[in-house]
Amino acid sequence: MILSRYITNQKTSVKKPIWFMRQAGRYLPEFMEIRKQNQDFIKLCLNAKLATEITLQPIKRYNLDAAIIFSDILMVPHALGQKVTFVKDHGPQLTYFETGKFSRSPNEMCKILEPVYSAINLTRNQLNKDKSLIGFIGAPWTLGVYMMNLKEDKNTLNNEKFYTELNFIRFNLERLVNILFAHIEKQYQAGADVIQMFDSWAGLIPEKHVKELCFEPSKKIRDFCKLKNIPLICFPKGIGKKYKDFIEYVKPDCVNIDYELDPVWASENLKDTCIQGGLDPKKLLGDEKLLLTEVKNYLDIFKNQRYIFNLGHGILPETKPETVEKIVKIVRDY
Ligand code: CP3
Repeated sequence: MILSRYITNQKTSVKKPIWFMRQAGRYLPEFMEIRKQNQDFIKLCLNAKLATEITLQPIKRYNLDAAIIFSDILMVPHALGQKVTFVKDHGPQLTYFETGKFSRSPNEMCKILEPVYSAINLTRNQLNKDKSLIGFIGAPWTLGVYMMNLKEDKNTLNNEKFYTELNFIRFNLERLVNILFAHIEKQYQAGADVIQMFDSWAGLIPEKHVKELCFEPSKKIRDFCKLKNIPLICFPKGIGKKYKDFIEYVKPDCVNIDYELDPVWASENLKDTCIQGGLDPKKLLGDEKLLLTEVKNYLDIFKNQRYIFNLGHGILPETKPETVEKIVKIVRDY
């Protein structure tokens, strides 16, 4: 069954689908080949032909159940007028965020992102009908973390900045919600049949503000998708046992769990929602026997539930392509 139907269907008695976060990327030699000739990452994301080719690379290699469009969550700030650069060992850096720059309308943003939608369309035309094409967004909070530079180098929250700028943060998250509606709808119209929302930095939010800055904006995105009949996978990474409250409040079609969450706890406490992922990407770098046991462990735990095999975060660049192949085989043969 196509993944988008699997997550919205209540039936569990079918084979578990499989795909990987960051499946199109730096661990694949065929990606590195293209990347070498395209130094500007943003430009590469805006090259519809190459983005299509990269999106299809892991599907050709592993015959996965879903392709995820080659783009980035930071294409939105780029299209809103911020300069996005990737600094080695420091992650993405965005030019200082001035309120005035944010005045680009959703329409203007979508115009700049037109090649992304073209790539989705091109990919859909080349992808088998039984495979899903996943579009995605960064959740408002996670985009805000990058856009307003709320994180310190050690991946901790800049507390002082957070508290002094809290009202500015609230104001911008509200505006991002509306901007993201447009980006979601465009991706869907172009041929994406599922949207995944990455809230990679949800775990940084001080406890008292999690509901306001993670749950509430996510719920607005969820309600929009529901209205448009767009299946939504949420990934509020790092919120621990609050996953349960998240599901009760947001009611996503599917939730990706992270590698810090105990899968047995997840299985017992999140059981009415389709679950995706969980396996620690670092496990793909270690002992192979141990890895295979871990993969089977996830499959055993979620045997009687709707479960999509995936990881608890993106594939690491050091991963050997053969390791991914081995995982696919175990999941297929299970
Ligand atoms: O999953 C896929 O294969 C599709 C494409 C995709 C990329 N980024 C390509 C990319 C997706 C879905 C993302 C999501 C993304 N981007 C997230 C959310 C998921 C997560 O990992 O937490 C975040 C936080 C970003 C922001 C971002 N983009 C960072 C932190 C970096 C630098 C380092 C890294 O790879 O994480 C990027 C660059 C980026 N995005 C690369 C790729 C293939 C590497 C570019 C390169 O140097 O070759």
